[in-house]
Amino acid sequence: MNQLQGSLLASDRTSSEAELFTLEVLRCNPEDSSVQPHWQRYSVELSEGMTLFIALSEIREQQDPSLQFDFVCRAGICGSCAMLINGRPGLACRTLLSSLPSPTRLAPLPGFALIGDLSVDTGRWMRSMSERLQIWVEGAATERDPCEVEEPMEPTLAEEIYELDRCIECGCCVAACGTAQMRDDFVGAVGLNKLARLRLDPRDDRDDAAFYELIGDDDGVFGCMSLLGCEDVCPKDLSLGTQIAYLRRAMLREAL
Ligand code: SF4
Ligand code: F3S
Ligand code: FES
Repeated sequence: MNQLQGSLLASDRTSSEAELFTLEVLRCNPEDSSVQPHWQRYSVELSEGMTLFIALSEIREQQDPSLQFDFVCRAGICGSCAMLINGRPGLACRTLLSSLPSPTRLAPLPGFALIGDLSVDTGRWMRSMSERLQIWVEGAATERDPCEVEEPMEPTLAEEIYELDRCIECGCCVAACGTAQMRDDFVGAVGLNKLARLRLDPRDDRDDAAFYELIGDDDGVFGCMSLLGCEDVCPKDLSLGTQIAYLRRAMLREAL
């Protein structure tokens, strides 16, 4: 073999090695007790702009149709593709493989009922939290004729409400929170953020005391230990720590 052939073969091997990306997925099926949870390796060929979601879809289509994970929007809007990516909660559809080391480990979000592999039931958790905190508009506004035009809202207030409304209920803040992992009934930063948003809504007739009653215990605002993991991982960059601190201060003012 001459030198040129040798160097061509070497560069071929380097480029093909560089194109392969390895994922290690925690496989677990709560329906089948005969199979113990285990790490399973998959390799995909890297392409430009490839996200974790694209890689997992390729694996499911071409290598292993039994792999379970969730997605709907593929655009960071529905919140269903959240998982642990090398131990950190994040959205598979918004994570580029090029930003990760190979191999990368994927596991389901802790704190939620496991459906299988990377799929967890965040919906049931969010529903029970919303019922507990009564996350709905209450009062005369709900009895209005739906054809009636609503009172316009101050643009700055509408902006403030919109900012808190950007939560996509992905569950990353719950998975990253030490309190939520220790206390099953802790409403998490997602719940406290929702209540802070509802409290601002002029269409709701409840007074502040009624809101504070819902979160004034260890499963609410006093359970939060200001760990701020929630804010670190929130894919919508919501100022969760600020909202929780604000609620706490407002409650103390009310009590004095
Ligand atoms: Fe996800 Fe952020 Fe909403 Fe928590 S507050 S559920 S991390 S979008
Ligand atoms: Fe948890 Fe966030 Fe409080 S991580 S402890 S909810 S500041
Ligand atoms: Fe909807 Fe990722 S698929 S947020």
